[in-house]
Amino acid sequence: MPPHRQDLGLSRPEGGRRGLTINFRSATSSVRRGSTVLPSVLTFLVIVASGGLLMMIEKGMLNGMETPAPRGGGRRPELLRQRRGPGGVDVEAQILQEIRNRTIKTMCRQRNMPHSIWSLSPLQKKTLLQHVLVNDEYRFLYCYVPKVACSNWKRVLKVLSGALESVDVNVKMDHRSDLTFLSSLKPEEIRYRLKHYFKFMFVREPMERLLSAYRNKFGEIESYQKKYGVEIVKRYRKGHAKVQSVRGDDVTFAEFIRYLVDEDVERMNEHWMPMYNLCQPCAVSYDFIGSYERLENDADSVLRRVNVPHFVHFPERQTWYKPVTTETLHYYLCSLPQKLLRELLPKYILDFSLFTYPLPNMTAEHCRH
Ligand SMILES: *[C@@H]1O[C@H](CO)[C@@H](O)[C@H](O)[C@H]1NC(C)=O
Ligand SMILES: *[C@@H]1O[C@H](CO)[C@@H](O)[C@H](O)[C@H]1NC(C)=O
Repeated sequence: MPPHRQDLGLSRPEGGRRGLTINFRSATSSVRRGSTVLPSVLTFLVIVASGGLLMMIEKGMLNGMETPAPRGGGRRPELLRQRRGPGGVDVEAQILQEIRNRTIKTMCRQRNMPHSIWSLSPLQKKTLLQHVLVNDEYRFLYCYVPKVACSNWKRVLKVLSGALESVDVNVKMDHRSDLTFLSSLKPEEIRYRLKHYFKFMFVREPMERLLSAYRNKFGEIESYQKKYGVEIVKRYRKGHAKVQSVRGDDVTFAEFIRYLVDEDVERMNEHWMPMYNLCQPCAVSYDFIGSYERLENDADSVLRRVNVPHFVHFPERQTWYKPVTTETLHYYLCSLPQKLLRELLPKYILDFSLFTYPLPNMTAEHCRH
């Protein structure tokens, strides 16, 4: 279980905010080097910082929004006005964006974080550019994260470019054709679009995303069972290293997590690579980071921001779609050895902290329910 802020005797929400300004230099340089293990002391600090931030979200800022802030902090009055204003502006969504904005700004300001895509390593840049989709007519860039409604966004892009008649057409999604990736453009074309286009991405609770990837790929997709499942079983299941008949179709969640612990985040398959590494939110300043948890609303506000015609809407969930419920996630997380989860979290810590998701609660009490 990660340490809690209270254990350190830090004070109320502001303490959490101060916690964020700790020096991330060593931690982030190790992230950039592609080394996957943050030094343990820094890991500890990052966890404390994100814990403090969460405290701020849960206790401090959100409460502060209900009533005028006593000290009248810079942007709060504006938010409050918008809340009362006509047109039903979604206050909760704005607060979340604001918190994400500040968190990302604070953490990305650290010296060794990348400040533009040109300061990324060749591998990091390649991954990023292959995940950014371009629409020149409506002037936007969308960084897709697999397992975060990316097929539906790709449908929207195809409809906008005329390659698909409607988002509801019942065809299997081809994830490559009729889409323009930033990686296919020249450096000066890339530079122009990064500077002038509306840039957005969507994020999801990191453990839920991993569980979704696990259930989909190892439960349903034979090519993944062959490519990854076989290797995982041979590596991590006792006595299976040399077994010929391993089919890789019965990988357990714990085996999958153990595999992730041993993999280099920069070389992972995109379905489980951290969202941070796919979209590089420090190198690209996104105008909007939507949440899977509020997909309909957030997708809608993006579509309005980029001024697409009214007939283009975000697709409904597919009927075959099996959501990961809170209960399912609880069940899988609580069935993991605590030690394993503790080893995993540092790899995904930037996804938790930059996108402001609480770390999973793995206390015995919580798991008893
Ligand atoms: C967050 O930051 C982006 C880019 O600086 C800006 O476009 C957006 O309006 C900000 N969102 C909020 C809610 O402040
Ligand atoms: C974890 O869950 C337990 C039981 O639901 C709760 O009492 C505790 O406060 C939670 N801890 C955190 C850090 O959320």
